[in-house]
Order: sequence, then C-alpha cells, then structure tokens
Amino acid sequence: MIDLSPLVRRLAGTPLYAWAQTLQAQLDAKMEKGHGDLERWQGALNALPDILPSRVDLKNDFILHAECDEATGQQTRAALMGLSPWRKGPFDVFGVHIDTEWRSDWKWSRVSPHLDLVGKRILDVGCGNGYYQWRMLGAGADSVIGVDPNWLFFCQFQAMQRYLPDLPAWHLPFALEDLPARLEGFDTVFSMGVLYHRKSPIDHLLALKDCLVKGGELVLETMVVEGDVHQVLVPEDRYSQMRNVWFLPSVPALELWLRRAGFVDVRCVDVSTTTIEEQRSTEWMRYQSLSDFLDPNDHSKTMEGLPAPRRAVIVGRKA
Ligand SMILES: C[S@@+](CC[C@H](N)C(=O)[O-])C[C@H]1O[C@@H](n2cnc3c(N)ncnc32)[C@H](O)[C@@H]1O
Repeated sequence: MIDLSPLVRRLAGTPLYAWAQTLQAQLDAKMEKGHGDLERWQGALNALPDILPSRVDLKNDFILHAECDEATGQQTRAALMGLSPWRKGPFDVFGVHIDTEWRSDWKWSRVSPHLDLVGKRILDVGCGNGYYQWRMLGAGADSVIGVDPNWLFFCQFQAMQRYLPDLPAWHLPFALEDLPARLEGFDTVFSMGVLYHRKSPIDHLLALKDCLVKGGELVLETMVVEGDVHQVLVPEDRYSQMRNVWFLPSVPALELWLRRAGFVDVRCVDVSTTTIEEQRSTEWMRYQSLSDFLDPNDHSKTMEGLPAPRRAVIVGRKA
C-alpha cells in the first residue's frame, strides 16, 4: 500500500486539502483493480537494493550518488531493467545510466528557463514516469503532484521515490478526468505531450484552468504545425504511426485557443523540431522510435507524408 498521509499533511491549509483527504481511498480502489503486469513490476521494485544516496542532483540532471560495489550495481541495473521500456529520462541511479527513449532533459532545458517555480505547488498532467516532477523540485518547487493513468510509469516513479522518500513529489495513477472539477489550488499546471491526444482540446484547456488558482500559470507543450491563426492539422488516420493524434494547431491558433479558454499573457517561448537524436531506441527502450516513423528519404515528413513532429511551449496565466 502507498501511504498518502504525507501528501495530505503537505496540503493542509491549502485549497487542495479536502481533495487530498479523498485520495487514499481513490488510490486504493484503483490499485485493487490493478493491471495484469503490476505484480511483475512490483517484483522489480522489490528487487531494488537498499541504498542511501550520499548526494542527489535534480537541478542539472537526475543523478543519485552513492558508493556501491559491483554486485549492488548489477542488482540495481537488473531491477531497473525489469521496469522497461523506459521512455522519459535519463536517470542516473548509483552509476546505472538509464538511457531512455527520450532526452527529456533537452525538453526541460527548453522549458525551464522561462519559468519561476520557486515555492510553487505544481500539478503535472500526463507526468509519465515523473522525470519532470523531480526536475521541478530541482528548480525549487514546493511540491509536485503528477497524474498519469499508465501503470508502468507509476511503477517507474516508485523506483525513484524509493530513494527519495522525503521529497514532496507524488504520482497518482489517474487521468485528468478523474480529478474533481474546480480544484483551483495549484500555482502552476503543466500539460506536456497530452493536448494532441485529446479529442476535445478546448475542454482539456478548460480542465487545466480549473486546477489553477486565480493568476496561476499554465505551461503547455504540444505538437504544432507551421501556419497562421486559421491552420490546424487533423490527421485523417495515423500521425507518425500514432493512432490517437487529433489536433495539431499552428502556434497562433494555439495561442488563440488559450485566450478563448480564459488565459491571459499568452506567449510562445519555444518551438523546436524533434530530432532522431532526441527520440530514439536504446537498450532501455527497444521498440521502434522516431526514425522509424519518418519518411526515410525526407525527415521533414512523417511516413504518412505529414509535417514531421514539431513542438511548441506556450505559457499563459489564468485571468
Ligand atoms: C506523450 S506522453 C508525455 C509525457 C511527459 N509529459 C512528457 O512531456 O514527456 C503523454 C502522457 O500523457 C498520459 N495521458 C494520456 N491521457 C491522459 C489523461 N487523460 N490524463 C492524464 N494523463 C494522460 C499518457 O499516459 C502519457 O504518459
């Protein structure tokens, strides 16, 4: 059982306290239903050795330091491998380098310079395995709650939390839709890599706004296309082999969506094309990756002939 009482204590005196008190029952019910692989992943978590980090770096990278012998290193590596595939990272755990599919540190270095997270109570929607949650703490956040319905990512988060039990980061295996309406308690809400999976993007923006305090900041990262305020790509079928991609707006269209959803001071702080160096197969993620999803003769197109993945980071404030 995962004990959420430290989270409840942390949220005492905030607008999120009433919600926090309901979370243990919601989590226990969800864990009760579980997932077919949960027992195997739990086995991998149990196989992690007990090690006390001598130093933790979350500001510049994710690195846990400790002196450990070769056998302990091997044990750590085998247990973490048992939680493959690893998509977001990298993580350095007592000398074991988890070379994840994504260089999420590159994305973080594009996003973080535009934000002041010091002392902020943060919600990360679609947090994956929690990589950014740790980096947000490294940037001075007060506390970070991540929600993501994927059970493997939840277990990968538990692997890191095992070595950082006192840090104010929590991962809840829930979808954004599982949160109550009008939480209105977070200073900053992140939604990175989620909007293009939503059939109703404006509803997603409204739901994110509902989680923020008045004046709170939204950090939205999503795939975009080039073009003016009237341009939005809706793929006929797959996009970059993904079946669940719905809306890829231009940056001006996306900014308009945010304004219509009630955000002010909306601005785009970064646009970048995703490269095959940033997203690739590794020994920790052995399935196909970006280079397999692009036109082999022209990397400016996906294999479906659509513009290759390009991502924008937009920030805005709840009015
Ligand atoms: C492309 S990944 C992005 C992960 C991470 N935020 C990043 O930027 O690297 C999208 C994530 O959103 C999660 N997700 C999908 N639908 C969601 C929902 N309705 N609520 C919360 N998370 C969701 C998926 O499980 C997945 O981990």
